[in-house]
Amino acid sequence: MIPLSVPNFEGNELKYASDAVGQGWVSTGGAYVSRMEDMLSEYTSSYAVACQSGTSALHMALYDLGIKYGDMVLVPTLTFIAAVNPVTYVGAEPVFMDCDDSLCIDPDKIDEFCMTECKYDGQNLVHTKSGKKVKAIIVVHVFGNLADMEKIMDIADRYNLSVVEDATEALGSRFEYGRYKGRIAGTIGDYGALSFNGNKIITTGGGGAVLSKDKDRAMHIKYLSTQAKDDPHFYIHNEIGFNYRMTNVQAAIGCAQMEELEEFISRKNKNHQIYLELLEGADFGYILPFRDNIRSNKWFYSLVINRVKCPLDIKTYIDDLSKEGIETRPIWGLIGEQKPYQKCVSYKIEKAKYYSERIINLPCSTNITKDQIEETVGKMKKCLKIAENCQ
Ligand SMILES: Cc1ncc(COP(=O)(O)O)c(C=O)c1O
Repeated sequence: MIPLSVPNFEGNELKYASDAVGQGWVSTGGAYVSRMEDMLSEYTSSYAVACQSGTSALHMALYDLGIKYGDMVLVPTLTFIAAVNPVTYVGAEPVFMDCDDSLCIDPDKIDEFCMTECKYDGQNLVHTKSGKKVKAIIVVHVFGNLADMEKIMDIADRYNLSVVEDATEALGSRFEYGRYKGRIAGTIGDYGALSFNGNKIITTGGGGAVLSKDKDRAMHIKYLSTQAKDDPHFYIHNEIGFNYRMTNVQAAIGCAQMEELEEFISRKNKNHQIYLELLEGADFGYILPFRDNIRSNKWFYSLVINRVKCPLDIKTYIDDLSKEGIETRPIWGLIGEQKPYQKCVSYKIEKAKYYSERIINLPCSTNITKDQIEETVGKMKKCLKIAENCQ
């Protein structure tokens, strides 16, 4: 089987993890956690707090922003559900927004929603129908692409909204143009969230981090993630904290992965280019481009299927490819249509639906070989053509 996305442990992972175990530092104390934070801080030019998952990073960001029961948060409908659930954890309500052709949240639709569905009193943006305050936007940088942060930050400034960047899929992606030239995903809004889950560009098994440009904010997140201990010896707690700190064993693996991050990004870029070349002119679909003038980590590759040529259910193609030994996956079901969120507001969802019915993600591990990519494309041609000829 050529897998969709598997971790790559070609570096010092085993050495550092054994070292952590050998030293007996396996929980949330230990030098690797601070080292991982230092490496992330240096890489992103921001303050980084290591935690247990991308989900916990998003939870703490929203909690620290004071988002609470009765508030609304604008979120993408085309994303993994973990980007949205933390809104519910803090008692607030998500409002589902469409994507643009980058698959990231569409700033023009956000703007339109704020203008037509809300009223701004100079301090608060109030959703007219429900009377609830819209407090923040969660931006997901989908598959390593970058959302249109200039427009999003302008809207946030205009309506006094906080911005949390879910950069879980985009570690290392950065703008090469405009106002945010040189800025890495997750360092533009109030907070950024990273994930180091097994399929991400680097992994710690499970893990994540919060990024912030503001040292005090980052330190407060660290305090919250370690049970809000005001005095570590006498158990004094002045706030309600979480047990969300990354462990030393996870961080040991993470430090080794950070050493390889740029190499992984380079391989992801090269492999993306190979797919582009092999699929040029294919009539059954095309590889979705990343935004121009950015350095993307190209974490995931998306084939947009031509539904006129290939009208069968996407599952058919995925199953046929699987029988041929190629693991692919569909893009997510829209979150606004999932059972827990069906009663929430979804605003003019068009492109998200279009892409969710057309995209399959292709094998993209950093250790995939050129031969395996060629094999994948050959099998895709076979499976997608067979289905086409069946019609
Ligand atoms: C967009 C997005 N947000 C959040 C998460 C959650 O990260 P984690 O699995 O580390 O909790 C993921 C990935 O799993 C993701 O893809």
